[in-house]
Amino acid sequence: MTTASTYPGLISLIWAGSQLQLLDQRLLPEETVYLPLTDAEGVWEAIRHMKVRGAPAIGIAAAYGVALGSGLPGQEAPDDSLGAWLGRVQEKAAYLATSRPTAVNLFWALDRMKARAAALAEALVPLDEAKQALLDEAILIQSEDEATNRRIGEHALELMKDGMGVLTHCNAGGLATAKYGTALAPFYLAKEKGMSLRVFADETRPVLQGARLTAFELQQAGVDVTLICDNMAGMVMGKGWIDAVIVGTDRVAANGDVANKIGTYSVAVLAKAHGIPFYVACPLSTIDMGTPTGAEIPIEERHAEEVTEGFGKRTAPQGVKVFNPAFDVTPAEYVTAIITEKGVIRPPYGDSLKKLFEELKQG
Ligand code: MRU
Repeated sequence: MTTASTYPGLISLIWAGSQLQLLDQRLLPEETVYLPLTDAEGVWEAIRHMKVRGAPAIGIAAAYGVALGSGLPGQEAPDDSLGAWLGRVQEKAAYLATSRPTAVNLFWALDRMKARAAALAEALVPLDEAKQALLDEAILIQSEDEATNRRIGEHALELMKDGMGVLTHCNAGGLATAKYGTALAPFYLAKEKGMSLRVFADETRPVLQGARLTAFELQQAGVDVTLICDNMAGMVMGKGWIDAVIVGTDRVAANGDVANKIGTYSVAVLAKAHGIPFYVACPLSTIDMGTPTGAEIPIEERHAEEVTEGFGKRTAPQGVKVFNPAFDVTPAEYVTAIITEKGVIRPPYGDSLKKLFEELKQG
């Protein structure tokens, strides 16, 4: 067994001195284009139009958006007092919070940036130092995410055995995070350790994150990946090819209900029907103890055109009614375990999540 830690994937977000270089995920897998973003408006647009997507990556992008929008060190604004700067931080954070509603990591990262700025202002730190410290906070959010994902991958790998077939939905990979991903992290770690897993990737209608992103990044990494259409998941399970399902999530409610890419709920029901464990991998920042159940998670609805003429080809009649929710909620009863950087959490989630967060508060 080898343990070389070379990560072969593309990095979604690169901080490059005074701008954010953001990989345009809409163009993958055909084109690798980095967009230079220099203001909060550019970051908002990139999140809204899914040039950057995936819960942790959205949070990281938004954190950089606040730093860019409120002023970088060395950049002067018309009214450059500490108070005016704090006001700009709060204003840009409120604006970026309107970009997408479901992934709680967005709000978590914005809250963290606002709290850091408020503490800097309260301590009367010189303005340029405060701007640098706020930028450093965004950089820290990104580097912590990378370390968190490796730990998630290690815990997830403990649940897998050499040669297993594992199905995943959407993209919860390196592209959706700082690096490694959440649900895809165990596949990168397995590769490093010389362990072989067979991955089945649902293509994930209508935006095709499974086909365009998961199949792409796993293939690049030399992981054994097979692409299937969403409606084939039951068939491959029936054939006995799937030993586990692992997905990411945009928000876990306090009772363990899980919001993730549309179609996840159907996969969970199929997994239960076939006696296959259904795992959810996420950082603690995706668990929202302030949302009691999945019913309170806001579910984004996107444009009808994603369904009727995705990627420029019309595939439905003009004027047809369309329902296009971007996410669904999988009830906690279908979730075998939630895998975090702190370990594997088991049901009943109401109790186990509460206990975990109480322990974390006590340090
Ligand atoms: O609409 P998207 O592509 O942002 O949805 C992404 C997902 O649903 C992911 O599974 C989730 O954000 C977890 S990413 C580690």
